[in-house]
Amino acid sequence: MQTGISKRVRRFLPLALFAVALAAVAACTPDHGQSTFGTAGPVAESQKDIFALIFWVAMAVLIVVEGTIIFIALKYRRRRKAEGYPEQMHGNTRLEVAWTIAPAVVLAVIAIPTVNMIFRLDREATEAAANLEVVVTGHQWWWEIQYTGEDVVTANEVHIPVGTPVRIVLNSEDVIHSFWVPKLAGKVDVIPGRANQLVAEASAPGVYFGQCAEFCGEAHALMRFRVVAQEQEDFEKWLDDMRRAPLPPAADSPAERGRGLFVANCSMCHSTGTHDPEQARRERETQRFRQEQFLKDPENARIIAAPNLTHLATRLTIGAGMVELNEGTLTAWLRDPSDIKRGNRMQKLAQVYRTGGLNNEQINQIVAYLLTLKPAPGGQAPVAGRPAGGDPVVRGKELFTSLGCSGCHSTGSDQILGPGLGGIAQRAATRVPGKNADQYIHESVKKPGEFVVEGFPNAMPPNIGQGMSDDDLNALTAYLKSLP
Ligand code: CUA
Repeated sequence: MQTGISKRVRRFLPLALFAVALAAVAACTPDHGQSTFGTAGPVAESQKDIFALIFWVAMAVLIVVEGTIIFIALKYRRRRKAEGYPEQMHGNTRLEVAWTIAPAVVLAVIAIPTVNMIFRLDREATEAAANLEVVVTGHQWWWEIQYTGEDVVTANEVHIPVGTPVRIVLNSEDVIHSFWVPKLAGKVDVIPGRANQLVAEASAPGVYFGQCAEFCGEAHALMRFRVVAQEQEDFEKWLDDMRRAPLPPAADSPAERGRGLFVANCSMCHSTGTHDPEQARRERETQRFRQEQFLKDPENARIIAAPNLTHLATRLTIGAGMVELNEGTLTAWLRDPSDIKRGNRMQKLAQVYRTGGLNNEQINQIVAYLLTLKPAPGGQAPVAGRPAGGDPVVRGKELFTSLGCSGCHSTGSDQILGPGLGGIAQRAATRVPGKNADQYIHESVKKPGEFVVEGFPNAMPPNIGQGMSDDDLNALTAYLKSLP
């Protein structure tokens, strides 16, 4: 029985291998999104040319070597048992010299244009910085995208202008990744502690697939992105839009409640803001703190690197290129991120998922809020006013969440990004000589850089306190002092 099975397996094995080979060759179809053959720019084109050269050289070697083997095997085969073994021979200097020189020549033919192009593309990458520089940072498992000198940050979607060589600088915050846009450029390794670069150029507008091409952990295959190539004026409009704030959600709408939930549960890791220099400074501080915490205890880090969600509603996909972005996929993502992206760190580490996740109503509200994240038409959006009155402690508790304090401060002793605020009334009264608790809290809210507690980053946004009315400040202080 056993031999029967193995015989059947043996008979089908070549067929199976042939089918696998066919499937592999099918990936070469030029119009496939991740095929390197249908190139869409000069960089990918010259990389393809090198590939073609190597392919045909290898093909010639294959034909000569295999042809010779087959020819010799047939011509000198033993025809009758009686013939005995052929004459045995050892060494042939002329042949050995020939088959040493021939591969050396073949390798030179491949190496000279390859090395030449590596240097040329690197030079072009340096020069392309004069046009546009995009800094791409690899994270497990998504891509952070920053535009040098433009104060614009986004994630998993690289917008570039058509017909312009662009310098892409590659960094990693954790492990080695590899940046690859099959139709435009790549692959170049993305290495922690080292800035690599590449030049990319798209000849025609379009959306091009990108993919991490270096095994980097559980969700490596799901670490995708898109390059959106646009006409110059569309690209500039996109950059302008990225700097504009979204319209705030209407008062008492589900989106408004979603904003509160987002601020309380998501904002410590996900920024939704455009990138002014002050915010950039705070994000650097936050990043330093985050890395420290992460190195101390990666399994329990309370804040992690997470995609910047500025104008999320204008993006094409979520989950680093996993699925198209729409209300349905956003809802599915918040309900069970692993269903869309196995291995994602949000579900593993975010406090809200560790403590049971969000209910359906909360998810719908957050989705409603996320879908408001798009540039307000025509200029800066107004900031919504807040009604005053009522019990100050209740009002302060509301403000604590709606202003986003709860994103970084627990109300007990747990550290998130800032100190836990349980018992702050006693500590605040003695922290700075000559200041009572009220004065200390007021000044800490108004000027967050003043009294940074040792060991914590100076990362609190100063604008939180700046626009605050005295009523609100007193209410917030009353609430904080009520924390046991
Ligand atoms: Cu990142 Cu593979």
